[in-house]
Amino acid sequence: MKVDILLGLQWGDEGKGKVVDVLAPKYDIVARFQGGPNAGHTLEIGTVKYVLHTIPSGVFNENILNVIGNGVVIDPISFLEEVRGIEALGIEICKRLVISTRAHLILPTHRLLDASSEASKGKEKIGSTLKGIGPAYMDKTGRNGLRIGDILEPDFAKRYGFLVEKHKQILATATGFTYDHDKLAEDEKKWMNCIDFIRTLKCTDTEYLLNDALRAGKKILAEGAQGSLLDIDFGSYPFVTSSSTTCAGACIGLGIAPSTIGSVVGVFKAYCTRVGSGPFPTEQLNEFGDKMCTIGREFGSTTGRRRRCGWLDIPALKRAIILNGVTCLNMMKTDVLNDFDEIQVCTHYMLGDKQTDQVPYDLGASNLKPIYRTFKGWGTITDISSYDKLPEELKIYIKFIEESVGVPINLISMGPERNQTLTR
Ligand code: GDP
Ligand code: IMO
Ligand code: MG
Repeated sequence: MKVDILLGLQWGDEGKGKVVDVLAPKYDIVARFQGGPNAGHTLEIGTVKYVLHTIPSGVFNENILNVIGNGVVIDPISFLEEVRGIEALGIEICKRLVISTRAHLILPTHRLLDASSEASKGKEKIGSTLKGIGPAYMDKTGRNGLRIGDILEPDFAKRYGFLVEKHKQILATATGFTYDHDKLAEDEKKWMNCIDFIRTLKCTDTEYLLNDALRAGKKILAEGAQGSLLDIDFGSYPFVTSSSTTCAGACIGLGIAPSTIGSVVGVFKAYCTRVGSGPFPTEQLNEFGDKMCTIGREFGSTTGRRRRCGWLDIPALKRAIILNGVTCLNMMKTDVLNDFDEIQVCTHYMLGDKQTDQVPYDLGASNLKPIYRTFKGWGTITDISSYDKLPEELKIYIKFIEESVGVPINLISMGPERNQTLTR
């Protein structure tokens, strides 16, 4: 059996959570491979709306094992809140959850370091979610991090104390940054209690679990967080997250070999959004952007911040497809464009006086100008029972994207709920 990978092709929030939930019944295991509580994956099932941060989006499907891979960074406080929130919906989750011993921990001081780093950058700030993601991954690559496996060791408290002391020394040298020491002490206590809870869960070397499952013929779906344009290597650096959000990140973040990869499902919105700072060539700081934001309810699932909105960017999408080896596409939030008389798509850029369909090194270059093609709007979609019944104008839009990027769109999402989905 192969591992199918599902990931975002834009700046995150493409609707990955919804698709994983829709596709999950076809799988035995759903495994998250990177990111942490910076992610917010929304699932709307009937009257229940739930935002997942660290727990894989297969959790609302019975019988599915949910794996948090070694590439994920875990904040025990936010993790426990998430578990309790799911349990409150009457779902027994702990028995269907496995955590990698190699997943790194986010400490309360990582959050402070994140805030301090952002404060020091002033106007140049990344616009991070302030969840401590950057500092936790820095400790991982700096070989100072604490991992889930460490919580079972007798010297864990000592190692924790050593790392916190190191963080406090850094914080003490940060000019103009202060923090509430009592609040930190409270958070540290709470954090340790949450570690006690994690000790009761199944923590194992998930690379063995996943590879054994593959050999036993089980089907695995790897769930990405964020999106390719936020990738640490290929995103709009430095306005990116700190992990590998592309397909290769699934191999690293789960311990699976490239040869085990089956389909790569690329999820994108019919337009574009971005939350946080950084370049966004097709951003619409006008009535169109406002309309997308209002109709699409474009407010961050994790931070509640307003998402910046703009037209679909084909060169950026094409590049993400290449980087990930995407085999099929899922187009999300198609319904949000229903009321637009005209829809624009960026087909290429002008970089000074040169035309290009490649994403340049500096996406924020002042001489970069997106060139658009205009499409006629399709109006209200009344019947999504089959592709043939979709309005002609929407079919033209879909065909144009498919021909531009060379990959078929096999799922079209028309609303946040499971049943508002057309598969081809
Ligand atoms: P993720 O991070 O990629 O999982 O996406 P988010 O959950 O952060 O953001 C996507 C938002 O769009 C959520 O509020 C979803 O409920 C919603 N959503 C998903 N698919 C659709 C769709 O096809 N149409 C509309 N209108 N909303 C959708
Ligand atoms: P999901 O999985 C959208 C953005 C932040 C910021 C940058 C760095 O829901 O698609 P970080 O906290 O990671 O250091 O922030 O990345 N960002 C996201 N934007 N969706 C996400 O996740 C994001 N996770 C991080 O807004 O610009
Ligand atoms: Mg999200």
